[in-house]
Amino acid sequence: MPTSLSINGQDRSIEADPVTPLLWVLRDELGMTGTKFGCGMALCGACTVHLDGAPIRACVTPVSAVAGKRVSTIESMEDDSIGRAVQKAWLETDVAQCGYCQAGQIMSATALLKSNRSPSDDDIVAAMSGNICRCGTYHRIHAAIRRASGELAKGSK
Ligand code: FES
Ligand code: FES
Repeated sequence: MPTSLSINGQDRSIEADPVTPLLWVLRDELGMTGTKFGCGMALCGACTVHLDGAPIRACVTPVSAVAGKRVSTIESMEDDSIGRAVQKAWLETDVAQCGYCQAGQIMSATALLKSNRSPSDDDIVAAMSGNICRCGTYHRIHAAIRRASGELAKGSK
């Protein structure tokens, strides 16, 4: 039986078995390859998407668990004011190296700034601790989140 999902504001009907991880539905059934496969075990954060605004690991989330909830992926971040601010800061800070982990990093950073516009250094470290970067871009990620937070603060004045 098809499962109904809300992905990036659009209602989608999915044929996959309900136990299929959301990651494979996004990538294989919907062709949305911005969300990456890294470890498949909730250890690296490459597959991070938002479920009702909170970051989740799509590789270990069965598609049945997101039925009736709002899923947002990296493909929709340019339509999100905070997601846009984060991506702008990422470019200005020249964060990415190979880029493989960066969609997941941006999703975690955006979720952080949605819940806390002025995170402390500790808040940033805690929120980003589950996102691994083989290239070691952690300092630039931290700086980009600071930059995005500053820009959002200016915009809200
Ligand atoms: S692929 Fe999901 S956390 Fe690594
Ligand atoms: S930029 Fe290469 S894994 Fe993070």
